[in-house]
Amino acid sequence: MRGKFVTLEGCEGVGKSTQLNMLKNYLETTRQPAVFTREPGGTPEAEAIRKIILDIDLSVSARVEALLFVAARVSHIENLLLPSINEGKLVISDRYIDSSFAYQGFARELGLDYVKEINKYAIENCLPDCTVFIDMDPEFSWRRQKGSVVSGDRMEKESISFHKKVYLGYDAVAKLYPERIIRIVPDIDKTVTHNRIIQALKSKGMIQ
Ligand code: TYD
Repeated sequence: MRGKFVTLEGCEGVGKSTQLNMLKNYLETTRQPAVFTREPGGTPEAEAIRKIILDIDLSVSARVEALLFVAARVSHIENLLLPSINEGKLVISDRYIDSSFAYQGFARELGLDYVKEINKYAIENCLPDCTVFIDMDPEFSWRRQKGSVVSGDRMEKESISFHKKVYLGYDAVAKLYPERIIRIVPDIDKTVTHNRIIQALKSKGMIQ
């Protein structure tokens, strides 16, 4: 039996890591085994590519950046995502294809079609069953991020206008794929946000 593939998406500083930890705790407590992973990353070679992509001292062109994300994704899909999904597991990834749509397609202005095209052969039949988009005002999330980050990476050091474009990208993609992408408007209380995510994933039949 095919497993389930869930992804979490959102701009930097929206509390995605906190929500992933809370989801992990919930699944552990309710005895629902899950594989947690992230992009770029999830395999040794993809983690190595991640270091290049996020290296603050490298200047990487938009197209090279987009293709490096695809290369990392292929490794992730071949070695971790597809084998786990085919074994019937529940897989939860911190970011996936929608990050490429929002960051490279919109913020880097490569366009959605370009990003779709370069991901086509990489992704094949490995599309998420359900994506949680933490829909938070970029201005607010950006301030939170600035206040909490000590050493930024190459994406974090981008301007607020870049991060606003990322948000607009997510918004557009969520409108394009309303069956797959659930918008969760976060509350100031992280437990309220957590409960919203749990209810949404339950209603989509991803978890119990
Ligand atoms: P990370 O530190 O994991 O970000 P966060 O904690 O906000 O999730 O760094 C990953 C960065 O890479 C993040 O800025 C988003 C970006 N990214 C892309 O631009 N395109 C992609 O396809 C993916 C997967 C990530």
